[in-house]
Amino acid sequence: MLIQEIIRRKRDGQTLDRRMLDLVMRGIADGTIGDAQIGAFAMAVYLNGMREAETTALTEAVRDSGQVLRWDDLDLAGPVLDKHSTGRRRPRVAGAGPLDRRLRRPCADDLRARPGPYRRHPGQAGVDPGYDVSPSEATFRTWYRMSASHHRPDPCARPADKRLYGVRDVTATVESLPLIVASILGKKLACGLGSLVMDVKVGSGAFMPTPEAARALAEAIVATGCAAGTPTSVLLTDMNQPLARCAGNALEVAAALEVLRGEDRHSRLYRVTQALASEMLIQSGLARDAQDAERRLAQTLDNGAALERFGRMVHGLGGPADFTQRAMHYLPTAPVVHEVAAPCDGVVHAIDTRALGLAVVELGGGRRNAGDAIDPRVGLSHIAELGQTLSAGEPLLRVHAADREAAEALSARLSDAFHLQAGAAEIPPLVHATLRQEDLP
Ligand code: URA
Repeated sequence: MLIQEIIRRKRDGQTLDRRMLDLVMRGIADGTIGDAQIGAFAMAVYLNGMREAETTALTEAVRDSGQVLRWDDLDLAGPVLDKHSTGRRRPRVAGAGPLDRRLRRPCADDLRARPGPYRRHPGQAGVDPGYDVSPSEATFRTWYRMSASHHRPDPCARPADKRLYGVRDVTATVESLPLIVASILGKKLACGLGSLVMDVKVGSGAFMPTPEAARALAEAIVATGCAAGTPTSVLLTDMNQPLARCAGNALEVAAALEVLRGEDRHSRLYRVTQALASEMLIQSGLARDAQDAERRLAQTLDNGAALERFGRMVHGLGGPADFTQRAMHYLPTAPVVHEVAAPCDGVVHAIDTRALGLAVVELGGGRRNAGDAIDPRVGLSHIAELGQTLSAGEPLLRVHAADREAAEALSARLSDAFHLQAGAAEIPPLVHATLRQEDLP
């Protein structure tokens, strides 16, 4: 079948079947389909949408467009679990107390989403621990054999998804629910998972701008993941303020270490991590209920298993063996720390979380273009929280920057990201909802 016939069908509002979608995804992966056709396909899907079964077929086609990993040769004693989120990642579940030998918690996010501990930034003193944030499957398997923890290599459906996403980006077709679901889930399901927990963010820093859109994405992910044969649940979690009180690479690793050391058991970061990990244990049948899951997870902090597992993960991927013991030695710090003061008295009623994220990118902590280097030293810390009462002149946050000009250039914009007024603020719940297959409409 000609690719233009498939595009024509979708353009005219008809449904595509698995065979057609396989042709499209394979053609995208092997380069036989051109960018113009990819753009036309994406626009046809954007304008006409997809039925539930069609979205599942598209997701399976993305999943199968590259290598789908299998782990049966590793003689696993427990299920292969994963979670995916735009938020923080940590190896809590892999060391879940008595489950340690049974539960396998692979997590590509842990390995790739952050530059990790750390490549040296030009001009910065310190050590380059050589941590590999994007290990090959071979590296991963070697490491697996040395370690009781199982982590995923790069998802294998990336060639098709990467190209499709690149074209969507420049053809105004990113905001299509079936394309988003197939993109996110196709990559995840190519990792050969037994089950998956997704963290879908809601609020001013979230990918989906409204609660309704976030809920629709969550429902589509649960329905599609389950229909594609991987039990999938979603936690809708709040992003109306940063999850941690800091943002930036080294700063966030330091915050994550506080949780892993058991020093932080109250923050939003801790509570979301706990909720996601708990859902993973319940969903896979490794914990009876929330209370059982929480008890096991608390044990991983009390007995040091979570921290020890993270240390092994870092070392296994090329980082220093003593990273968790000497993190402050390895984590780079910015030369300039600049305080942004509250312009008036008031209670923090709203935070433009996206603006804070963009500020980190501007400081050099994120990429504007694919090839940009990341400066792990920079970011924001001591970020005021929703509901916090401030007097004029008290700090809203601290900016960690490469130089004073960079910090001062952002001050006014960062101050504008906080809305202060009198009276009590409404604080949204941290976990808006948990969606499982049985909750679907
Ligand atoms: N993240 C992805 O990986 N794909 C999308 O389409 C949107 C968000």
